Amino acid sequence: MAFQKDFLWGSASAAYQIEGAANIDGKGPSIWDIYSNIPGNTFKNTTGEVAIDFYHKFEEDIALMKEMGLKAYRFSVSWPRVLPKGKGEVNAKGIEFYHKVIDTLIDNGIEPILTVYHWDLPQALQDEYAGWESREIIKDFTNYCILLYKEYGDKVKHWVTLNEQNIFTTLGYLLALHPPKVMDFQRFINVNHIANLANAAAIKEFRKYVPNGLVGPSFAYSPIYAKSEHPEDVLAMENAVELQNYLWMDVYANGEYSPLHINLLKKIGINLDLRDEDIELLKDSRPDFMGVNYYQSTTVTTRERKQDEEEKLTNTVQSEAKNLPTDKLFVNCKNAHAKYTDWGWTIDPIGLQVSIRRITSRYNLPILITENGLGAYDTLEENGEIHDEYRINYLKEHVEAIKSAIEDGAEVLGYCTWSFQDLFSWLNGYAKRYGFVYVDRDEESEKELKRYKKDSFYWYKNVIESNGEKI
Ligand code: BG6
Repeated sequence: MAFQKDFLWGSASAAYQIEGAANIDGKGPSIWDIYSNIPGNTFKNTTGEVAIDFYHKFEEDIALMKEMGLKAYRFSVSWPRVLPKGKGEVNAKGIEFYHKVIDTLIDNGIEPILTVYHWDLPQALQDEYAGWESREIIKDFTNYCILLYKEYGDKVKHWVTLNEQNIFTTLGYLLALHPPKVMDFQRFINVNHIANLANAAAIKEFRKYVPNGLVGPSFAYSPIYAKSEHPEDVLAMENAVELQNYLWMDVYANGEYSPLHINLLKKIGINLDLRDEDIELLKDSRPDFMGVNYYQSTTVTTRERKQDEEEKLTNTVQSEAKNLPTDKLFVNCKNAHAKYTDWGWTIDPIGLQVSIRRITSRYNLPILITENGLGAYDTLEENGEIHDEYRINYLKEHVEAIKSAIEDGAEVLGYCTWSFQDLFSWLNGYAKRYGFVYVDRDEESEKELKRYKKDSFYWYKNVIESNGEKI
């Protein structure tokens, strides 16, 4: 059998995208509470203020997870819900909420996978020292982690440190699509380096407080293809692989930057503020697994050889960033052989097999797929059914790809689809749905937030029951 007996068939979510209850029970504001309330920042000005109200409906949702037979549920803790100012006074009600979620999951036979940080930084830390731009955050982030380790360490085995560090730094500081809406390559690299240090510090503390647990970051991995066999495209691919994949994963897995990264950055005029004490901190912070969020592959070419036009989409918020310093080394382009979603993301299941193999081959770490899914428009029929065969096809092909990668020799611990319930999508409102469970709300109205099982719900139930034999 390809899938190990205790394979974690799971699903994932993030606090800001599901909880709602933004100002309830002592929670402090996060950067997303503030950012999404500024008109123009999100699609149709949607926010996660109510989201899908998991804060009040978690028991109903977990009952559905149990009915499906889900083995694991990945969720994140909202930092400002437990520490309203990011540090100092602890909000007992916030701590209690996550105890209740974790206990309910465990009572229903579902393993909790806890993500420490899924982008909702306390606004207080942004105001005090510009959040991730200051080394001050390393101490505050580590203390926040220690608080969670002490509270939940004896109940939760699998922990994710930073969700998609590469995405929150890129969208926040390079493409100006997330808070604090900056477009500056040097600041992006500075922030990313500080996040690396925070991640390493959190893993070091984890070893002390949760000695029997497993920890790793979740990286948004996109395997990079060359547009053609032209050697210039191949070199562009090599550049992109270094600066879009290995720049992060080498630091996670090996605790150091490779000379290639430092020099490629220098070549484009960017300096890495790597100090002696940083080298020390990054050492010995190897994770137990590489968390992988896989949605799509990326194809690159050179600036000179690029032919296709940038696509303008009306169903999302797009970046206005132009002329990135990396354009000298590679530029993204269309893949002529791939299908695309309504939001312009490639649909490429083989890319997942390629991802797992490349990561295994370079790092020899077990892999936990922490996210994978299809964002699509769904139709709620009058009889309460949702026929999402497109989602079933997408997931089926990706499960097959994982199976093949395991047969090729990779170790995969589990598969968390994105997502269990429909939820708030940062830049796409509520129309881009990912769940097995349809949540009846849209951008205009929260309605009653009623839950409906989609066809994919029954499909995944079967997959889990047969441990991946019946897909
Ligand atoms: C990942 C994030 O980038 O992709 C999730 O970890 C996010 O939080 C998911 O929702 C899908 O992205 P989007 O933009 O379609 O919501």
